[in-house]
Parts: sequence; C-alpha cells; structure tokens
Amino acid sequence: MKDQSYEPMNWDAFDERRRPAPETVDFDRVVAAAMSRRGFLRSVVAFGSGAAAMGLGTMMSSTSAQAQAASRFAFTPIPIATDSMVHVPEGYSWKVVAAWGDALFSDAPAFDHDNFGHPESVRVFGENTDGMERFNIDGHEVIAINHEYVNSEINVVVDENWLPTTAEDVLKLQHLQGVTVMEVAAGDDGWSVVVDSPFNRRITNNTPMMISGPAAGHALLQTAADPTGTTVLGTLNNCGAGRTPWGTYLTCEENFNGYFGSTDAEMTMPDGFDRYGIDAESGYAYEKFDARFDLAQNPNEPHRFGYIVEIDPSDAASVPVKRTALGRFKHENAASVVARNGQIVVYLGDDERGEFLYKYVSNGVYMPGGDTSTLLDDGVLYAAQFGTDGTGQWLALTPDTTGMDAAMISIHTRQAASAVGATTMDRPEWVAVNPVAIEAYCALTNNSRRAADATNAGGDPMVPVEGSPNPRAENGYGQIVRWYPADEDHTATGFTWDLFVTAGNPAVHSDAYAGSANVTEGNMFNSPDGMVFDRFGLLWIQTDGDDSNEGDFAGQGNNQMLVGDPATGEIARFLTGPVGSEVTGMTPSSDGRTIFVGIQHPGSGWPAEGLPRSGIIAVWRDDGALIA
Ligand code: FEO
Ligand code: CA
Ligand code: CA
Repeated sequence: MKDQSYEPMNWDAFDERRRPAPETVDFDRVVAAAMSRRGFLRSVVAFGSGAAAMGLGTMMSSTSAQAQAASRFAFTPIPIATDSMVHVPEGYSWKVVAAWGDALFSDAPAFDHDNFGHPESVRVFGENTDGMERFNIDGHEVIAINHEYVNSEINVVVDENWLPTTAEDVLKLQHLQGVTVMEVAAGDDGWSVVVDSPFNRRITNNTPMMISGPAAGHALLQTAADPTGTTVLGTLNNCGAGRTPWGTYLTCEENFNGYFGSTDAEMTMPDGFDRYGIDAESGYAYEKFDARFDLAQNPNEPHRFGYIVEIDPSDAASVPVKRTALGRFKHENAASVVARNGQIVVYLGDDERGEFLYKYVSNGVYMPGGDTSTLLDDGVLYAAQFGTDGTGQWLALTPDTTGMDAAMISIHTRQAASAVGATTMDRPEWVAVNPVAIEAYCALTNNSRRAADATNAGGDPMVPVEGSPNPRAENGYGQIVRWYPADEDHTATGFTWDLFVTAGNPAVHSDAYAGSANVTEGNMFNSPDGMVFDRFGLLWIQTDGDDSNEGDFAGQGNNQMLVGDPATGEIARFLTGPVGSEVTGMTPSSDGRTIFVGIQHPGSGWPAEGLPRSGIIAVWRDDGALIA
C-alpha cells in the first residue's frame, strides 16, 4: 500500500483551505468586550434576550427553575478526552455496529487494511457516517444513514493534491457516499447488521432518482442525458437527516458544489454559481473522469443537486425523490413536525457562513394513512428574520416577495432569501423540534468570516451583533438559538427567540467568549452541530469543532455529545469521540434502551489498529434501562 499519511479533515477544514478566513481585526474583540461589559451575554443569554420580550416574569420563573430543579440526567457526566477511544459514563457500554467497508450482503468483498479497504463495491457500508434515522418496519429495526463524503487518502491512491487518479477510483469514491439502508438486530453479541436483509440497500452518487416540485422540468435542470429535467443520477454530500410522519427518510444534500469542476479552467461560470461556491476547482476530481461533473460539458448538472431527497426505507426498490419545493442550498438537516392543523412544517438550515435558516409549510394537511405524495411538493418556503428585541418573523419566499417565479425560488433559493432580507446567520447546522413543547432549536456552529466585508457570497450585510442570535463578531465557539412559534403554532409567521446556550471557554476568557451561564469548565465544548431530541424532551447535542485542546479550546478535548435540558438550561457531557473525529448522527432503538451514534472521520487507531474507519456505535445502559 502506498504511504498516504492520513489527516482527518472535515468540510470546514477543507473549505478553510480553499477560502481562508480573513484576519481577525481588533474591532471584533472590542465589540465583544463591550458586549460583555454591558453584561448582555453572561446575564441574559441562558434564558435569552427573548425572555425580555416575553416579560420579566417568564425570565424569572425560568431562572428560578434552573436553580431549583433536580437534574433530569440519569448519568454522571464524564470528563473530556484526548485519546483515540470512545468514552461513555459509568454504567453504560458501547460497541461498533457498522463501519466503513463492512458487508451489507454476503457477496461483499472482505475489508483489507493493506489495500484501501476493498475494491470498488456497492455492497458495503459507506464512508463518513452522518445523519441517521431508525424505522420500525413490521417489527424490523431498519436504520437509514448518510455517508457524507470520503477520506480519499485512505480510500484510494491519491496524487500530490490528495485527489484520486483513475476512473475506477472515482467510481469507488462515488459508491462510498450517499445513503445506506440496513436492518440491525440485537443478538447475544449485541447489535449488528442483518447481512442480506431485504431492507439492505445502498444509494450512491449514481442511483437513479426522480425530481419533483416547482423546479422539476425547468430548463436549468435539463441536460443531454435528461432532456426532461425530471430524473437524475445520485445524491451528493448527504449531511444531516430527517424523517416524515409517514415513515420516510429525508437525506440532505449539503456541500454539493465541491463535486463539480471544469476541465476548462477559463470557462465563464453561469449565473448563480458564485453564490453556491461552484467553480472550476473541485474537491474530488470527478470532472476528470466522469463528464457529468465537468461544468465545461454539463453546466446544468449542479442545478440538480442541493435538495432534500425523500427515501422509502421499507422498499429497497423504491425510487428516491428530490423535493425541490424545500429549496436548494447547502442543506444540513430536515426537522419536520405536524402543526396543530395538520400542515407539515419542515425546518431547514443552510450551513454556510452568513446564509439562512428556513422553514417549509405544506399547503395540504397530513392525514395518517392518506395520500402524502404531494405534501413536500406543494407548499411555501420561508426564511427567518431575527429582530434584536427577541422577536422574529418568517418571510415567505413567493413571486410577489422575491420577483422570482416558483421554479427559480426553488433553484436559487439563497438569492430569494436575500431578496426578502432574511437574517445572515453563523452557519445553521441541525434543527431539532422539541416533541414535548412548541419550540425548535438550531445549532449555529461557528463563523470565522464575520470580520469580512460581507457575510455571504451574495454580499448581504453583517447582522448587528448586539441583541442578535449571532452575538459575537468573531465566533469560534458557536451557539444554539431557540424559537417559540407565535400562538404555539409551527405554521405561524411570528416567533420569539432566545439563545439556549452560547458555547465558550470560561477557563480562558472572562468576556463574551466565556460563554453563557450554563457553560462551565466541566461541560464546555465548541461548535455544536448535530442535535436530536429524545422522547423525553431532552436535547442531545453533538460537536464538530476544534479538538486541539489548546488555546481558545484548551480544556475542551475531543468532539463530544452532550445532553441539554430545555427546561433548566443544564448541559452535561455524555460521550466523547476519538481524537480527530466528529460525533454526528443519533437515533434511538424502538424500545429506547439503545442509542446509535455516528463517529465520522476518526483519526488513526479507531476503532482498532489499521485504517481508521468511520462508523456507528450502539450505546446502552448496563442495567437495560431506558436511555432515550
Ligand atoms: Fe455536514 Fe454542516 O455539516
Ligand atoms: Ca453537520
Ligand atoms: Ca459542522
């Protein structure tokens, strides 16, 4: 095997390499220090500037609740870790359920640590696990799980630019991404994959799928291979996930731009490419070996990616559908909820610096057992505008408000949201909807470019710092914003908001960068990303941040998973991942006694000697009690 030293790299690191952040200016620190002097963050943020808008009584009752409530966490929080292991609290255990290259079918090639895992195959579990959902289908536990991207240097031979060098290797990388659907079962040795289950399936960068909704058939989606603009091969960069009330899986296309490049470096890029970061340079060299990804030959192909894709996990022969009504951007996850009148609401984050938070509201209503085929095709998309007074509104993206027709709103969604004046955000990652309260949360992971002239590629202005859900001008730590729909109705256009937590480091800073009052030296973390509510209304928070354990991040250790209590603001560390990894994706077993958790891009030594292998683990209580 060729020596290709492996350095785990997430998208953020890759993007920083391509587009370095501007130097931090002294002004940023001055702004943050001034905020801290006014006591804005430390005193208010845990229960929010929004609390002021809701009245002092609300804030006081919340604060006293925090002081008096007994912890709802049934575990002893764990310390940080800096090693190559997974750690969970005393009384809990874990094991690997599936890792990159594991067989889904008995005819899959064996994993070979000396030869990049295995030859090209669609019969194995993919790379870099991310969002996932467990479905119970006629008593079978079926997990649908994303494979966000690849670690080319350990998957195939790469050149000096860390890019694949042959068509066969490009095909292998394409087949390691997408989605796995697989049955799992608990036996004498704990949870494992049911090899050859009829539910098992790989969906890759090349799987045929349909395009529906307003953009379907539009001229910008038509290609030589698909003159109708309604069918497409594959799904790209599947990041977070979601589920519908009718039992389908939603996989979310995030950094799709990185797969397209041009064999003609001088070509003029079509309108709109700049806003989405599509240019002649790709991250995977697909364009050199697969004409579909060569912008010089197929300039419309990128318009067919960046969507939410619906997959039926109960039928391995079903055709996935790209739901363009939910917009085209760097989709993080898709958190759906049935509003009180039966309309479907799907909250959606666009994970890029200075981009927006969205929600989709169906025009039709959900009837259990009824026709759900158009609920995600016919509806209205909104973008969030946050006020500095703790209120906000959802701005409808319509032909009247944007000057764009319905198809173009679905294709150039970022431009539509800019047109209505949505609030530029610190990289919206996962949204999670509380199942026991009418509220939703979004992880705003960090933002290294707030000091730039404009916060996004559209040139939208930076939001005011003071009183904003993005309250620090230079934001290496991230925060979680929470909103309360007006009239306790998720379809409402009004809301109030506060910050559940601003991450920080109270051991290093005493200003706004120390974090909110519910951050301590015992639970601190940076860059919240994955978020999942459990059935009890506790918020599981996963991180994808700086695990150097140095400087601003000293004492924060490896990436981790914490649990937050919305009622009290309490946050406790439950799990730490191996060094180099991101902890992302979580779903419980049907009986609530196991959680499945994803470990993405681990460093060397995980889960064992040999090639590092991303994968999912099962975590359970040794006494068999409920966990989530
Ligand atoms: Fe794939 Fe924004 O995380
Ligand atoms: Ca993420
Ligand atoms: Ca992230």
